[in-house]
Amino acid sequence: MNRRLDLCKIIELPKIHDKRGNLTFIEGNRHIPFEIKRVYYLYDVPGGEARGGHAHKELQQLIIAVSGSFDVILDDGFERKRVHLNRSYYGLYIPTMIWRELDNFSTGAVCLVLASQYYDEKDYIRDYNEFLKLAK
Ligand code: TYD
Repeated sequence: MNRRLDLCKIIELPKIHDKRGNLTFIEGNRHIPFEIKRVYYLYDVPGGEARGGHAHKELQQLIIAVSGSFDVILDDGFERKRVHLNRSYYGLYIPTMIWRELDNFSTGAVCLVLASQYYDEKDYIRDYNEFLKLAK
């Protein structure tokens, strides 16, 4: 059966190799399936800490480990999977209505997030049981 989890996918981003250092770029609606309205990043995450723990009604995101590594747990209300991100040129696309948790951050990890909407607390589902009800 087709699940929303199948819509979560790793997108390989353009990478310009250069002996002076590599460069990756991302254009909204070209490399990722949405216009970018907001960028934020998680950093200085203490060892053992977890982030996320919510889903979104309208928001789509692309998550990139621009430095270091971490895991993203994805849950569509039916099944869960864990994705390890550790490359600056891979983005994890997360569509609407996916519960996500981030953990296993390496020292110095930076989690860059491209978002399709401005910040809006009303778009969050922070209660897992409420998410399950809405996802069924
Ligand atoms: P939250 O999205 O819960 O963090 P994460 O899922 O990465 O663990 O946001 C944490 C706090 O930061 C919360 O009080 C809302 C605030 N915040 C903003 O003000 N703007 C933003 O763009 C984001 C992502 C969060």
